Amino acid sequence: MTDSKVQDLQDMSDLVSLAKRRGFVFPSSEIYGGINACWDYGPLGIEVKRNIKERWWKSMTLRQDIEGLDAAILMHPRVWEASGHVDGFVDPLVDCKVCKGRFREDKLDETPCGKKPSKKAGEFSECQLTEPRQFNLMFKTHMGPLEDSSSVVYLRPETAQGIFVNFLNVQQSMRKKIPFGIAQIGKSFRNEITPGNFIFRTREFEQMEMQYFVKPGTDEDWFEKWKEIRLQWHLNNGIRASKLRFHEHGPNELAHYAKQAFDIEYELPFGWQELEGVHNRTDFDLGRHQEFSGKKLEYFDDQTKEHYLPYVVETAVGCDRSVLVVLADAYRNDGERIFLSLHPEIAPYKIAVFPLMKKPDLLEYSDKLVMDLEAKGYRVTSDESGSIGKRYRRQDEIGTPFGVTIDYDTLTDNTVTIRNRDTMEQERVSFEKVSSFIEEKIKAWKPVE
Ligand code: GAP
Repeated sequence: MTDSKVQDLQDMSDLVSLAKRRGFVFPSSEIYGGINACWDYGPLGIEVKRNIKERWWKSMTLRQDIEGLDAAILMHPRVWEASGHVDGFVDPLVDCKVCKGRFREDKLDETPCGKKPSKKAGEFSECQLTEPRQFNLMFKTHMGPLEDSSSVVYLRPETAQGIFVNFLNVQQSMRKKIPFGIAQIGKSFRNEITPGNFIFRTREFEQMEMQYFVKPGTDEDWFEKWKEIRLQWHLNNGIRASKLRFHEHGPNELAHYAKQAFDIEYELPFGWQELEGVHNRTDFDLGRHQEFSGKKLEYFDDQTKEHYLPYVVETAVGCDRSVLVVLADAYRNDGERIFLSLHPEIAPYKIAVFPLMKKPDLLEYSDKLVMDLEAKGYRVTSDESGSIGKRYRRQDEIGTPFGVTIDYDTLTDNTVTIRNRDTMEQERVSFEKVSSFIEEKIKAWKPVE
């Protein structure tokens, strides 16, 4: 759409209120006043999330060199010593003695002051910040009835470690040859000091991670390949290219395990932000697990007869962050309507069916069409109340790409009107052709720039 009146998302609060009003995302435990930075996915949000997970899973596992895994969230506590998380997964925390706020020292310039929100934390003349102290981001709990130091376990802060400790299990059971990858989707937990911006940074979130095991020396080539594959995945989700960019980590930004790291960033209303990380983790993790467990984790190459610890190129994207980016990127306001220009394969419903009036013959036809489309695998909604214009608007706001109207002509000539969410164009199509028409449009769909 080239119309300059069409505006992108300007303010996160517009998306947060749409998400709640229309059943995408609700504040968690809302009837008790909510709990900071925890969110529940509603009926439409969970469809978007599942569609994104499905696209990621297929992109990773519909190929010969990647296998899936679903490891436990609770792992042996030594895992987190070996991985470096017990000592190294810390943020510098400062307290303000005046407003009692707690802030990440390295993010003071992004955080509003608790007393004077127009100023940044620490900037207001009355602020008194303490010296920074290191705060570990892992959630601790106890396994079994005894709550002492011997029973401490952690909620995993990344899914990756479940993959490293299963490297040989997967390699041997599936007879994989290097290079190969292991993909996993699952919950991770971080006791973030400053969570916020809706589902952007939360303490409980889902990650979609893939660790690709390669021969040392080939890691830099694989790193470049995976950067491009992952950028393309976001583009394939309909994210506009102009809103995505790479950011290379400088020496001070690199995580303790990484030799090289690039973020794929997206421009949200609050600035360019990390959406995904692509990391060259070298043999750091396998080496540390080998050392801490005392178990050999080397790969044996039966052609060259070499034993070696593979290097790992990791791609790590937050599922919730991906949902946020997909919704934010799709949000449009053209002055008359708000619509989500979602990729049709990600939209919660593909099709809305509208019988023009609540008359038995139109309703009967509509039910038949809904059943027919559902049998073909489409998620369909129907709406028979209000003016047709209002019904279109309701569907626009939740991103339903196609609206099918059944009117009195339908009953005589078996044709329906199909309306396109993005262009608002309408076409008359015969009943039998509805699904093939929509299928073609889905294939040809491009994001509205
Ligand atoms: N295994 C590597 C790893 O976990 P990361 O850069 O810390 O790397 C990967 O996290 C991705 O997980 C991030 O790019 C982001 O999409 C998501 N993520 C991390 N912390 C998050 C949080 N607190 N809330 C939501 N998503 C988060």
